[in-house]
Amino acid sequence: MLTTARLRLRPWRDDDLEPFAALNADPRVREFFPLLQTRQESAESMQYILDHFRSHGFGLWAVEVIGAVPFIGFIGLSVPSFDAPFTPCVELGYRLAFEHWGRGYATEGARAVIAFGFATVGLGEIVAMTAVGNKRSRRVMERVGMKRNVADDFDHPNIVVGHRLRRHVLYRLTANDWAATAHS
Ligand SMILES: CC(C)(COP(=O)(O)OP(=O)(O)OC[C@H]1O[C@@H](n2cnc3c(N)ncnc32)[C@H](O)[C@@H]1OP(=O)(O)O)[C@@H](O)C(=O)NCCC(=O)NCCS
Repeated sequence: MLTTARLRLRPWRDDDLEPFAALNADPRVREFFPLLQTRQESAESMQYILDHFRSHGFGLWAVEVIGAVPFIGFIGLSVPSFDAPFTPCVELGYRLAFEHWGRGYATEGARAVIAFGFATVGLGEIVAMTAVGNKRSRRVMERVGMKRNVADDFDHPNIVVGHRLRRHVLYRLTANDWAATAHS
């Protein structure tokens, strides 16, 4: 469990499935993913997230706005299951329901997750990735101090060749760079 000024990043509960399935079926949330998710696929994603916590000790936490909204999406860390030049790695991830965008929640939660990854887990580096055109997501990465190197851009192996979302950017943050900025 991680707590910020406005958010609680907490373990998932069964009743998160309903709002999770709703946001995964929202075309605005899924603009930079190949497909919307069915309720069954959301249930499988939720199970995958729970299994990831069990095998790694960290994962994509369910996010609540303290005293206001029980579930707005997830923010956390995950180990990608695909192979790429930069794997194995630990990835920062976030997905929030559309009505909770534009309030700084993703950035606030991501900062807490990054601090947890470096200070508690002891990671040496955290990466983040998204489709090239996902400007909102890239702005979060930039706000938390991650840096993109064009040489790291890649074609996502889980997206079919020729798909408009296949080209991805990679952002990185090392523990040393985080420590230098976090305490300056
Ligand atoms: C990516 C995503 C989480 C970003 O959400 P977001 O709300 O834009 O990001 P933040 O939470 O950091 O909020 C930043 C915005 O809140 C505004 N804001 C308002 N109050 C704020 C506050 N108290 N503190 C900080 N920012 C605040 C900022 O000005 C900024 O607005 P702007 O984008 O219009 O400039 C969201 O778009 C999303 O869930 N997308 C779908 C899933 C997705 O693409 N995930 C990433 C794939 S890898």
